[in-house]
Amino acid sequence: MPNLDWENLPFAYHKTDYNIRCYFKDGKWGKIEKSDSEYLQMHIAAGCLHYGQEAFEGMKAFCGKDGKIRIFRWEENAKRLNRSAEEIFMPEIPREIFKQAVFSAIELNKKFIPPYNSGASLYIRPLLIGSGAQLGLHPTKEYLFLVFVNPVGPYLLGFNPIDILIDRDRDRAAPLGVGHIKAGGNYAASFKSLIKAEKQGYHSVMFLDPKEKKYIDECGPANFFAIKGNTYITPKSKSILASITNKSLMRLSENMGMKVEQRKIRVEELAEFDEAGSCGTAAVISPIKKIVDNGTGKTYEFCKDGKPGPISTKLYNRLHAIQYGDEDDKFSWTTII
Ligand code: PLP
Ligand code: COI
Repeated sequence: MPNLDWENLPFAYHKTDYNIRCYFKDGKWGKIEKSDSEYLQMHIAAGCLHYGQEAFEGMKAFCGKDGKIRIFRWEENAKRLNRSAEEIFMPEIPREIFKQAVFSAIELNKKFIPPYNSGASLYIRPLLIGSGAQLGLHPTKEYLFLVFVNPVGPYLLGFNPIDILIDRDRDRAAPLGVGHIKAGGNYAASFKSLIKAEKQGYHSVMFLDPKEKKYIDECGPANFFAIKGNTYITPKSKSILASITNKSLMRLSENMGMKVEQRKIRVEELAEFDEAGSCGTAAVISPIKKIVDNGTGKTYEFCKDGKPGPISTKLYNRLHAIQYGDEDDKFSWTTII
């Protein structure tokens, strides 16, 4: 067992024993290889370095009370990586290669899977990059699919309320751009807003729709949701990533007898919501305490008693229980490795 303080793990890079690599050359994928190096040897003209031909995924595996390792909805991540690849002209990764690479990366690093009840999990980072030399502006001909794993603790404050800044001075995505895929450039494009928000004491940043700046898009690397009465409301937008966590929360809400609305959400509607949260693989749910709009100067407040709202709490507990195997997986979301 590695000597890790499992209960206090940060969401930060930690070396593990192996990563998995698979190369695409001459129009086809090669064999899956394991590596114990944290480094890549890369061509100085690789397309990913110059023209941002790169996309990634984020998923998690959990150790249950029964000692079994469960991976959450991996097929959704496999499909989403291929949707990202298609948008920026990278080759499709066959389902079996994705599965074998992800499962092998977990198995080879089993000792880094945080124990049950530590509050931590194993984050899995699949990455697809244009590795071929490419000077003229064109997709490269060679690619690398890489998977590494990383034990992680909670993102931001875990299941504790956070403050968010709406930054109207900048967009992370363009109306008809690639905000809907997990391309690395979208994240670099969000840094100026994120750092600005952090400097002002916020934990994250909310982006509005880049076309009209009227509607809520998403919260940094997470989708937004709100609770109003018995309804779960979440944005519909062409410039946000389709979150697998959000999709799961929508399903759980329906299962709990709630109504689900996926629609455009005007910023001013924030004043009408009982609860608000951001959701994603890393964060699971970050309940929102305060949202400040730097354009209108308005402040929207939730969690007035300092605690996450009752419905967000119920949703979080159910998702958590399914991920760790404490609740019957009636939606078949987990795969035991
Ligand atoms: N939106 C963005 C921009 C993200 O990077 C992520 C993280 O993956 C999400 C939303 C949440 O998606 P998921 O729940 O699939 O992790
Ligand atoms: C995830 O939730 O998987 C993410 O991608 C967040 C990451 C950008 C820190």
